[in-house]
Amino acid sequence: MTELVSTRAELAAARKALPGTVAVVLTMGALHEGHRELMRAAREHADRVIVTIFVNPLQFGPNEDFARYPRTLDSDLEVCRSEGVDLVFAPEQDEMYPDGLPAVLVEAGPLGEVFEGASRPGHFTGVLTVVCKLFLLTRADLTFFGEKDYQQIALVKRMVRDLNIPVDVRVVPTVREPDGLARSSRNRYLSDAEREAALVLSRALRAGAGETSAERALSTANKILSAGTGVSVDYLALTDPLLGPAPADGPARLLVAARVGTTRLIDNISLVLKGD
Ligand code: PAJ
Repeated sequence: MTELVSTRAELAAARKALPGTVAVVLTMGALHEGHRELMRAAREHADRVIVTIFVNPLQFGPNEDFARYPRTLDSDLEVCRSEGVDLVFAPEQDEMYPDGLPAVLVEAGPLGEVFEGASRPGHFTGVLTVVCKLFLLTRADLTFFGEKDYQQIALVKRMVRDLNIPVDVRVVPTVREPDGLARSSRNRYLSDAEREAALVLSRALRAGAGETSAERALSTANKILSAGTGVSVDYLALTDPLLGPAPADGPARLLVAARVGTTRLIDNISLVLKGD
């Protein structure tokens, strides 16, 4: 049985009744196979699972898609039921921000200002603030985040360490469509032609990840991206696994963000450089 609550008081009461270890999966709804995978991992590693569904206004810029972000609570609840989720917390904005937007924020720091943060000022401070609130409200022992939002994971881990939040952050690999496109709630904005064009992101990353030198990884990925039509690249970056400067050899990460039509998409992949 999946219980749905929408107030903090109801959540607190329902949370108290959950026995054993509790995992939480934080989402903005419009649930897809990527979210399902997080729920399955949560089920596997905890006795009870909470899913939160909240489109957080604090993490959207003034010209971003907050107003048109898909809100599909009924089908989201169906997804949660079918994945055996015990408790869904789907608050209204007033419930999360009863005094208006908060005066005190969790500041993301320098890692919040590069890559996604450079394109979306304030985004990660908005993310960390709501994530911190949701950790406190759900008091979960474990949480599962998707690798698709790679920088978000790095920042959530850093916040948990810096602020001593007692939650164990686990990572789930990116779930993709059979043709390689990373699953995303924003994919539903894409027309058929845009969806086809968007494939260039995962294709570029895969090709880049087949290279063993930093220079060739970037140039191979870049070549594929620039041959794509209708795709405007925001950044293509090669880093170490913690988003610092790319190493000459060893594990690395290739990250991309691009606009396809009016839709902004991100993706990333791991690779191992051999210093050649
Ligand atoms: P949202 O975009 O709904 O994503 C919720 C979780 O699902 C995140 O951990 C995200 O990385 C994961 N996810 C999304 N697509 C995925 C995919 N294709 N494969 C694997 N995991 C995937 O991320 C957010 O919401 C918000 O910023 C949030 C953390 C809820 C704070 O508002």
